[in-house]
Amino acid sequence: MDFLSLAQKYKTPLYVYDLDRIKEQFLNFKNAFFGRKVLICYALKANSNLSVIHTLSCLESGADCVSIGEVRRAILVGVKKYRIIFSGVGKSDEEIKEALETDILFLNVESQQELERIEFIAKELDKKARISVRLNPNIDPKTHPYISTGLDENKFGVDKETALKLYLYAKNSPFLEPVGIHFHIGSQLTDLAPITASVEKVADFARSLLALKIDLKFFDVGGGLGIAYANEKTIELYDYAQTILRALKGLDFTIICEPGRYIVGESGYLVTKVLYEKHTKTKRFVIVDGAMNDLMRPTLYQAVHKVRVCFKNKPQKDSESLCDIVGPICESGDYLAKNVMLPSLASGDLIVFENAGAYGYSMSSNYNTRKRVAEVGIERGEDRVLKHRENFEDMVSDELKILQGAQNGFK
Ligand code: LLP
Repeated sequence: MDFLSLAQKYKTPLYVYDLDRIKEQFLNFKNAFFGRKVLICYALKANSNLSVIHTLSCLESGADCVSIGEVRRAILVGVKKYRIIFSGVGKSDEEIKEALETDILFLNVESQQELERIEFIAKELDKKARISVRLNPNIDPKTHPYISTGLDENKFGVDKETALKLYLYAKNSPFLEPVGIHFHIGSQLTDLAPITASVEKVADFARSLLALKIDLKFFDVGGGLGIAYANEKTIELYDYAQTILRALKGLDFTIICEPGRYIVGESGYLVTKVLYEKHTKTKRFVIVDGAMNDLMRPTLYQAVHKVRVCFKNKPQKDSESLCDIVGPICESGDYLAKNVMLPSLASGDLIVFENAGAYGYSMSSNYNTRKRVAEVGIERGEDRVLKHRENFEDMVSDELKILQGAQNGFK
């Protein structure tokens, strides 16, 4: 990838996505379940750029959404409503109402109170709400605690006893139709054992529900498949699919998967430009124009993104030394990489952070009144902008209108 030309054309910091690679990842994932009834619902939270979702929707991807905003994004780019599911512990009344009116495939329910709200709203709309219950299997996924979701101590899902109550309640309600079962134990999973244990546990539970004549059709295994950020060993797609298929042997379910990171993570790059080098008594800092507001993962999870110097104004060979790559934000936690070996760098050199396609732009913010950066896609060798860089006016226009309105009022 010619990051120098892209940086010259679109400026930095810049997110670049390899759309062909995204398609390839999606198709590989789907093919791992070849010959089975499977629906891949891409988890929009990983990267919700409309062009990315559209690219996947053209391959018949469904959408796993966690807000009505994400449901709307999916619908906007043509994801079929019967391929959209809606998860999350805190759906508001307005969100539930719109999801039911939109007639999506089902809502993943995470508590008794939520189920009762869904029933109440479905009754008002004179509809039958298709639901699935998120079971918390209480299995340690062995990932970063912030992205671990399948333990009793986490806010997600319900235990088996509660799930059974919810299914029986739903079965007897004229406004609820239990159609699926769901679990998601965490993200960036690199160990297959907890997945195997969870899928077996949930499959056993599903068998007991079928015996109670609760007619489930969908078995939703969530997302979570990890990628290699720093050469860690990851789970083979084949093994992942086989462990699920083995646990579901004899069960006639449509399998639903909700991968996010696996589909888009490796296809994304954050391109930044060196502003300065700074040496303190004890450390060397390379200061770039990208910061924690553009890529939160290092600050939030101590995540490691591989660093590549992709352009040097003075390409002389010189020795490398340890440094931290930091941004312009006024916090010591604002860093993009720690203790990396880099040659001496000068203003204008380019540094790329790899594996930034998932939870990069989608978690970015305007902190320090920094503009959200541009997103660019590469498809069949051609680059095109997928979202323009924000400008200052975008950021302040609403506040300014309010302020100007108030000032007029004072006159
Ligand atoms: N399904 C549910 C219900 C989820 O909560 C998530 C992610 C996914 C699917 C997709 O998981 P994936 O396949 O991408 O691992 N910001 C964090 C990751 C948070 C994941 C939240 N839920 C990070 O940057 O590592």
